[in-house]
Amino acid sequence: MGKQAIIPKPLELKHLKGSFEFSQKVVIVAAKGFEPEAHFLADWLGLELAGKAEKGSRAIRLELSKNKKRFTDEGYGLEVSPEVITIEAATRAGIFYGAQTLRQLYLSEKSESVQVVKLACLSIYDKPRFSWRGLMLDVSRHFMPLDFIKRLLDALAFHKLNVFHWHLTDDQGWRIEIKKYPELTKKGAYRASTLIGHSNERPRIYDDTPHGGFYTQDEIREIVVYAAERHIRIVPEIDMPGHMQAAIACYPELGNLKAQLEPRCHWGISQHILNTEPQTLQFAKDVLEEVMELFPADFIHVGGDEALKHEWEESRQIQDHMLKLGLRNEEELQSWFIAQMADVIAAKGRRLIGWDEILEGGLSQNASVMSWRGVQGGIDAAKAGHDVVMSPTSHVYLDYYQAKRHEREPLAIGGYLPLKQIYAFDPMPAELNTAKRKHILGGQANLWTEYIPTPEHAEYMLFPRLCALAECVWTELEGKNFRDFSQRLAEHVKRLDELEINYRELD
Ligand code: ACM
Repeated sequence: MGKQAIIPKPLELKHLKGSFEFSQKVVIVAAKGFEPEAHFLADWLGLELAGKAEKGSRAIRLELSKNKKRFTDEGYGLEVSPEVITIEAATRAGIFYGAQTLRQLYLSEKSESVQVVKLACLSIYDKPRFSWRGLMLDVSRHFMPLDFIKRLLDALAFHKLNVFHWHLTDDQGWRIEIKKYPELTKKGAYRASTLIGHSNERPRIYDDTPHGGFYTQDEIREIVVYAAERHIRIVPEIDMPGHMQAAIACYPELGNLKAQLEPRCHWGISQHILNTEPQTLQFAKDVLEEVMELFPADFIHVGGDEALKHEWEESRQIQDHMLKLGLRNEEELQSWFIAQMADVIAAKGRRLIGWDEILEGGLSQNASVMSWRGVQGGIDAAKAGHDVVMSPTSHVYLDYYQAKRHEREPLAIGGYLPLKQIYAFDPMPAELNTAKRKHILGGQANLWTEYIPTPEHAEYMLFPRLCALAECVWTELEGKNFRDFSQRLAEHVKRLDELEINYRELD
């Protein structure tokens, strides 16, 4: 395997004769508008920017393509020739991805024993298969510090991933400052203790150590900018009406019981769920309003997964409310709840997305679905004309074990998801006809952090599996081959070393 082991694999790569030699004299020349990408590239390659290349000096040129047919959206061309390297694209995102490919090539050739980095000449034409190439990170079960979020965004960009789905709230901790409801982070961001060992073990033993943290609105704004510079959209998630124990602990009037709750200290699904009083709906809407002020994202995620309906079944008020609304069951009540959120989101020109459970009681017309309990929910939603992101447990749950023999790995939630399995992920279901295929926006991997207390551990679970995911959502099916990928990955991990990413060793 040559050093052109690019991940995700580009659409077309042609080897050419000769090589380009790097020296301090190489300058980067950017067309108008591509200066931010030029700055990134200069930083990655340790080079200077220049307005114009002097005669005779070698240059890297970032050019706006005139061929609008060939270069659309995120596509790019990269040509390495002996005197000049050219990246061309129609958009800043395209230039950015071309620059990431060049960075990968450069990192492969760079080493302490090499005085002059030489890149073999080649020509690449590349563009992504899907527009949604994502990762979800749960920061509720374990809080992840801001500098790690930035590192992660860098790593996503390096693999041409463009969606960061930020799971900001859950039973075990509320992680986003909401000005109108200060208790959410004053109290809801901290739990008294955390379960030791696996959730299945009895008796339950706790560490008696408070755990928590949250992001201020200023910090959120900083991350939104940081992500946008790297051509990553952030999709914030406020999970409702279930997974709300931390919020109910702060504002008991949101719940169904008289009891005072606390942010949950162990894993599994909480029975506690929001009630459907007008002031509770208003709470949820107010939170979403602040979230939409902070995040410019086209999609706002409202969760909707694993909302146990037991408290709703037991509550007189809720049952009366259902009757009044003419709803037949609790699933329809959840849909009624979610539909109101869809209205608030649509009023701001945004789109609602939720986990596939939101299909169960009927789905608002403009809602989109993230299919996690397999792909059937996604198929049904696409057939009904809804947009879909595929994220099935079978292929992309990165909290699952990376080895069959669990005792060789750090404690995890369960399952077995080796590299080969994630590599086999295809977001596009074969059974969808051409007209419905456009509803599959793409795919994403999810990292739930019950058993992942630190950034280092998160990286261990993410890599190298996220490298495989990147190829599943970027590379056309004809270009995919697990053996070929494995060979490229053996080269690619040296780049991960350079970037100081903590990955699990290759089998
Ligand atoms: C999920 O894994 N509960 C969406």
